[in-house]
Amino acid sequence: MHVLTILDHPNPASFSAAVAQQFMQGAKAAGHSVELADLHAEGFDPRWSMADIEADGRTTTLSDVRNEQERIARADAICLVFPLFWWGMPSMTKGWVDRVWTWGWAYNQLDDSERSLQRPRSGVLLIPAGARSDEMENAGYLAALDTAWIKGTFGYFGLAPRRLEVLYGSTGSSKRRQSLLEKSYQVGLTLAPPQHTE
Ligand SMILES: Cc1cc2nc3c(=O)[nH]c(=O)nc-3n(C[C@H](O)[C@H](O)[C@H](O)COP(=O)(O)O)c2cc1C
Repeated sequence: MHVLTILDHPNPASFSAAVAQQFMQGAKAAGHSVELADLHAEGFDPRWSMADIEADGRTTTLSDVRNEQERIARADAICLVFPLFWWGMPSMTKGWVDRVWTWGWAYNQLDDSERSLQRPRSGVLLIPAGARSDEMENAGYLAALDTAWIKGTFGYFGLAPRRLEVLYGSTGSSKRRQSLLEKSYQVGLTLAPPQHTE
């Protein structure tokens, strides 16, 4: 498979960047080709603007959005790596999602989250988070993310199967961080193929 990794972190020495690298190493070891979209390094503009509104539904697509859509088009699997910020996506990923996965290209209806205009692609979210798993589960944050992302967003984009891996305790000990990096490698190594459903 061709595997596209989307990284959202301004610091190349960050834990998130290391997670993306480990995931890609695992995917390569499994025989996949890999491609990295480093959104901060590339200067992607996440602001949804009047230009996006004017391009919407027309035959024209903004050139930066088209570039992202072309990368997605050649991928069989997509991995998003971004740190959990306020129980949600950081602004870069949020803007990338808002601007790139457009009406008429990714989806055209919102009554069935298993239907997309895009072909099925294997999808993984690798999310460093400071919290512990019991904190997130007991407070309902994990269920909320599962609803908003797995049920409410990435199905419309054709990601199937889709896997949410929260990397709990990412600000913890070096031993903890090392085990999370090993997990990221394993997620790349064991990436599922796209799931075609009729
Ligand atoms: C602005 C901001 C908001 C954050 N919000 C959350 C949060 O809601 N839940 C959580 O578990 N961790 C939260 N964190 C912690 C980060 O998810 C964690 O530090 C992560 O490891 C950051 O990625 P990095 O290590 O690659 O820099 C937040 C950190 C920042 C800077």
